[in-house]
Amino acid sequence: MFVLGIETSCDETSAAVLDDGRVKSNVISSQLVHQKYGGVVPELASRAHQRMIIEVVDEALRCSGITKQQLHGIAATQGPGLVGALLVGLNFAKAMAYGLNIPFIAVNHMEGHLYSDFLMDDQPRFPFVSLIVSGGHTMLVHVRAPFDHQLLGQTRDDAAGEAFDKVAKMLKLGYPGGPIIDKNAATGNPRAIRFPRTFLEEGTYDFSFSGVKTAVLYYLKKNGWLDDPEFIAPDHLNDICASFQEAVVEVLARKTIEAANELRVKDVALAGGVSANSRLRSKMREVCEKEGVRLFYPKPEYCMDNGAMIAYVGWLRLQRGFVSSNDLPAVANLELV
Ligand code: KG4
Ligand code: ZN
Repeated sequence: MFVLGIETSCDETSAAVLDDGRVKSNVISSQLVHQKYGGVVPELASRAHQRMIIEVVDEALRCSGITKQQLHGIAATQGPGLVGALLVGLNFAKAMAYGLNIPFIAVNHMEGHLYSDFLMDDQPRFPFVSLIVSGGHTMLVHVRAPFDHQLLGQTRDDAAGEAFDKVAKMLKLGYPGGPIIDKNAATGNPRAIRFPRTFLEEGTYDFSFSGVKTAVLYYLKKNGWLDDPEFIAPDHLNDICASFQEAVVEVLARKTIEAANELRVKDVALAGGVSANSRLRSKMREVCEKEGVRLFYPKPEYCMDNGAMIAYVGWLRLQRGFVSSNDLPAVANLELV
């Protein structure tokens, strides 16, 4: 079964073709237009999606070696995301499916991330615990069986990726901040500054990252660097990045392994943009090995927003006879479960 997947929820225009869940092509066009604003500008995102969508879909088909007439279905992200951005991919998918007289399948973006681990050869086994960490969400999910998910906890304020981006902005490092902080942290000392770890009340799997973000802000203010981070010595900048990253990663790792132990699952999967973080991966490897739990994470192009994960969920749904109506709207705050 050949499925085309289209993703336009934020600042990546992406399309992919899968053959029975195996990736034949995955084309991602990242919008650079937002960089000078230090964050995604929704209207510019919609326009850039409109400019790129035909080219990206054509390229995905071309690279896959599959013609559009061979497709069995077209999946697109319905939400959550920026409504104007979602509308571009969603309407494109509807129109294309209608024209080809094949099913259109709407996909929840977070479900896409959750199943992105299945794009890899080595896949988690049900039941497992999934930690989805992206720019907009931080979620811990008990995945009991396909499409049988229980949300264990989520962020009460900033998402993990959002905290990375905001701290990078304070340090004038550019956008998106996660990969830059990750790179700087590699040569920094994670114990140089003790930023707070917020575990919230006993027993909760919810997260909060606004405290650690504010702690970095106060640290910069106290040292007179808030408006002039360019005066921070490079080695110390790396220490700040490493110390901040360590605080975020420690909370993510501890809560995830606690959930796995409590639910007695043997597999843990990471997903979302922040799952590309090298320290999160190494810390998770450490804790999982210690507890005898297997760890899974997608390769970087499947961590970031991509059409392949959307096509994968579309394929799973299509097999179960799930097809969406052409009346379906784009939704900014679509719930995962
Ligand atoms: O999943 P994603 O591509 O888009 C959303 O659905 O939000 O995630 C983007 C987020 C951004 O906040 C970015 O800074 C973060 O993922 N990110 C990282 C890394 N790579 C991307 N954060 C930490 N370390 C990284 N290596
Ligand atoms: Zn995403």
